[in-house]
Amino acid sequence: MKRESFYISTPIYYVNGEPHLGHAYTSIVADVLARYHRQSGIPTFFMTGTDEHGQKVEEAARAAGKTPKEFTDGMAELFKPLWKELNISNDHFIRTTDEDHEAVVAEVWKKMTDNGDIYLGEYEDFYCVHDETFWKEGQLLEGHLCPNPWCRRPVEKRKEKSYFFRLSKYQQPLLDYYREHPDFVLPEYRMNEVTSFVNGGLQDLSISRTSFSWGIPVPGDAEHVIYVWVDALFNYVSGIGYKSDRSRYEKFWPATVHLIGKDILRFHAIYWPAFLMSVGLPLPQHVYAHGFWNIEGQKMSKSLGNWINPREMVQTFGLDAFRYYLLREIPLGPDGDFMRSSLLNRINSDLANDLGNLLSRSVSMGFKFVSGVVPQPASEPDNQVARKALAVYAAYRESMDDLKTNKALSDIWELVSYLNRYIDEKAPWVMARDASKKRELEIVMYNLLEALRLISVMLKPFMPDSALKMLQQLGYENPDCDFDVAGRWGVLSEGMKLQKGSVLFPRIDIETVENKESAVTENKNETANIEKPAAPAPLAVSAAPAEKTLPEGLIEYDDFAKVQLKVGLVLEAEKVEGADKLLKLKVDTGEERTIVAGIALHYKPEQIVGKNIIVVANLKPRKLRGIVSNGMLLAATQKDGKLAIVTTDGPIEGGSRVG
Ligand code: MSP
Repeated sequence: MKRESFYISTPIYYVNGEPHLGHAYTSIVADVLARYHRQSGIPTFFMTGTDEHGQKVEEAARAAGKTPKEFTDGMAELFKPLWKELNISNDHFIRTTDEDHEAVVAEVWKKMTDNGDIYLGEYEDFYCVHDETFWKEGQLLEGHLCPNPWCRRPVEKRKEKSYFFRLSKYQQPLLDYYREHPDFVLPEYRMNEVTSFVNGGLQDLSISRTSFSWGIPVPGDAEHVIYVWVDALFNYVSGIGYKSDRSRYEKFWPATVHLIGKDILRFHAIYWPAFLMSVGLPLPQHVYAHGFWNIEGQKMSKSLGNWINPREMVQTFGLDAFRYYLLREIPLGPDGDFMRSSLLNRINSDLANDLGNLLSRSVSMGFKFVSGVVPQPASEPDNQVARKALAVYAAYRESMDDLKTNKALSDIWELVSYLNRYIDEKAPWVMARDASKKRELEIVMYNLLEALRLISVMLKPFMPDSALKMLQQLGYENPDCDFDVAGRWGVLSEGMKLQKGSVLFPRIDIETVENKESAVTENKNETANIEKPAAPAPLAVSAAPAEKTLPEGLIEYDDFAKVQLKVGLVLEAEKVEGADKLLKLKVDTGEERTIVAGIALHYKPEQIVGKNIIVVANLKPRKLRGIVSNGMLLAATQKDGKLAIVTTDGPIEGGSRVG
């Protein structure tokens, strides 16, 4: 179904720190999708911005010796130029300190109050400043740490008067909505997570604060400021003109996709729709949660010295190569591991070798064999190359319409490889020696150039600058890349003049880059090595063997405490080829890991997806049938051999500690 309009948003980024790889990733993915939809002729609106209120920002401003306003003004100016450098084509940049946004938040607050959804109460709970979230004591990790697996910072005890939002009232409406819109949350497996959280019961939400003042005042009660997540989420409607530009608002709301990281799914898939229901506004079509990038196998953090500055990546590897890597390396959903070696490999192999060579070979043969101009196309309609190119193009369109950016790139590379083989098979340099093959040679050259044009058009959302340079070399001076025009065979016309251009994707010398980078990171890495956590580990279905040296199989508590047990949410499951008993599981235990489990005789893959399992998280990784298994799941086995996995009583977040 063709979309009538496309409104995509990134989260608005907190301004308490500088932009990093995670921010760049969300913005680049959103940019690719926005560019694609524009190229498809669909009215598109792409919005990003900054989340500037709240205690975290207030504290960061204080630490910098600035007023919050001075501080946020400065920080917002760090994000904007970076997005320009990354070629982010956002139509609007919203700041939550924009007057217009503040007015919208005050207005929706009043609406929610009028609808009976806001009341004044008091709470006594634990607050995580970093996550701007309250927790009950029982939810905390040992040592009063925030239970969010991506946070785990100390929390503070708070007792305050607060306004509450009647979230509990929306439990059933939300569940009904999820049932009627199973693709509201994407990827699909994240929907299970959300549904089981809501099924577990929703408590009313504290939505105002009195302990600091950097926020939008509660209308009619200046002692309170509005909770930063209420403020932030409404950016998605204020920023497209809910108050200021009604025609734009009507054209684009409800949003097509809120692209977010998996850590903020609860806010977007539970609170946000409940707020919208309360205000009486339609709900967005999709909330798409992407995964997290780890760096060389470790969580990215400044203290580990592995923090990635996107600007440095662009300077070292080039913008389009960086964009390509992020989109190609992982599908939109699971976590990824950012590794210099795989980035270099993608540049040297996919870009320099496969694509770059295909282009430079084709253009230089164009100069040698057909006088540097586009030759006459084949007259016969049945052209094998045209059919292949159009089939790939159709697959690409389908992938992109389904937001499968990584699949779309592998579709394109299927055509790249096909064309490289085509050149080798046809050997135009041999044809060129035989005058009777002149026409055949022209057709081969046309096929190559035209297929490369189609490749450039498909690549344009991903690598806008390189795609245009490719088109220029192919003789298409002012290319029209709209799919309506460009998504056909036969757009290059006879006589267009090829252009010799520079090498688009030069090979990168691994040693040079590594030397250069290690000089920069040497100091930081010293800390990283010291703090490097023990590697997590693989399967086995039975529990750990009992300690033999103690009487009657008893063990010391300290021995037990060495075993790290965690809740894992099974995201994906598949059979292991050639092994009847094994299932390969992708499990979210706070970080994503692969576990190979010997349960295939007892569970079908679809029976285990979405279930919580208990994982021994700190076993040494083990290779099973060539797959590295990172952890072991617990299961109980009856005398007759019947096996049942151990699970949790009710929904609990993946990564929660067990024990
Ligand atoms: N301000 C809130 C969002 C409010 S939206 C109404 C916020 N800001 S953030 O700056 O902390 O995070 C922005 C995004 O960056 C999140 O989607 C988060 O998932 C993403 N990332 C942060 N670290 C990341 C990685 N290491 N990898 C990928 N994305 C990650 O949350």
